[in-house]
Amino acid sequence: MAVASVVACCSLVIMALMAAAATAGSVPAVYVFGDSLADVGNNNHLLTLLKADFSHNGMDYAGGKATGRFSTDKLGLATSPPYLALSSSSNANYVNGVSFASGGAGVSNATNKNQCITLDKQIEYYSGVYSSLARSLGQAKAATHLARSIFAITIGSNDIIHYAKANNAATPSQQQQYVAALIQSLSGQLQSLYNLGARKVLFLGTGPVGCTPSLREMSSAKVCNAVGNAMAVQYNKAAEGVLSGMAAKYTDLHYALFDSSAALLRYINQPAEYGFVEAKAACCGLGDMNAKIACTPLSSYCANRSDHVFWDFYHPTEATAQKLTATAFDGSAPFIFPINVRQLSAI
Ligand SMILES: *[C@@H]1O[C@H](CO)[C@@H](O)[C@H](O)[C@H]1NC(C)=O
Ligand SMILES: *[C@@H]1O[C@H](CO)[C@@H](O)[C@H](O)[C@H]1NC(C)=O
Repeated sequence: MAVASVVACCSLVIMALMAAAATAGSVPAVYVFGDSLADVGNNNHLLTLLKADFSHNGMDYAGGKATGRFSTDKLGLATSPPYLALSSSSNANYVNGVSFASGGAGVSNATNKNQCITLDKQIEYYSGVYSSLARSLGQAKAATHLARSIFAITIGSNDIIHYAKANNAATPSQQQQYVAALIQSLSGQLQSLYNLGARKVLFLGTGPVGCTPSLREMSSAKVCNAVGNAMAVQYNKAAEGVLSGMAAKYTDLHYALFDSSAALLRYINQPAEYGFVEAKAACCGLGDMNAKIACTPLSSYCANRSDHVFWDFYHPTEATAQKLTATAFDGSAPFIFPINVRQLSAI
């Protein structure tokens, strides 16, 4: 993240999905792609500034140990392990799922270049995993296994944050142009995953990135960045267009789209209604609104992280993530559609 990435939903959402999927029985594995909202530790294996394997990240995790997740997760029990940890073993087993997600990643290769595993690179790694599964299980069994698995993807926040920070005065048509370029890439990336066996896709759209403490802090009135928020809405809508188009073309493709922007804006606009006290400042960080510097061992953090929407300058707290997870799992439109995660799992 710085670095960037945001909001929305979170590693937690994905952790919870994995746990839920495992108990549901019908989903043998979860394959995870995307950015820091889903990174379970791949960046610990990279030479990068975009790391979270230090306190206070992970303070709610078992034993308070930072694991490289960009949040305070404790739901992360039955998780897909990070690819870079798995792949270093000579007899790596990918049947139980794997996470390729990397903090800082974007739809575009250019976003946080050299600081993360880009989405294209993640798909390239997955292509190797696909071949490995086809070898170990046989082609037909591998196809069945993958068709029942969930492919969880959270990507786009970093691209939009970078753009909005650099182009605060972008006109609507400039915003649309950038989003259209992202969507064109995303469309190819989703097609690649389909070609490599993905049949159940959970797509987590970007959150209202303009309301992250980092972007909000940039304005003198401390209001949400309009460019970032408008682009998040456009991006999520266009991603839905791509997925519904694919589902119309491929009848064996099923998807659930979580509109993280719509879901999270409820907490930001009416915090008290959802049990939050602070929806603007970050819990952990330094400087104005704790939004100038990341959450590091030198940062201060708030007394009660359950009453904050944001954990650090870009990421939601666990309290936020849990609410989002519940919505993704059992909710309905306009937050999760055309089906929810429970329904997607059951297919
Ligand atoms: C992004 O990088 C991948 C390799 O990691 C490459 O195959 C792809 O063509 C690149 N995409 C663009 C748009 O440059
Ligand atoms: C922390 O905040 C949550 C959510 O607002 C609230 O339920 C809880 O009582 C608070 N805890 C303390 C110790 O104040």
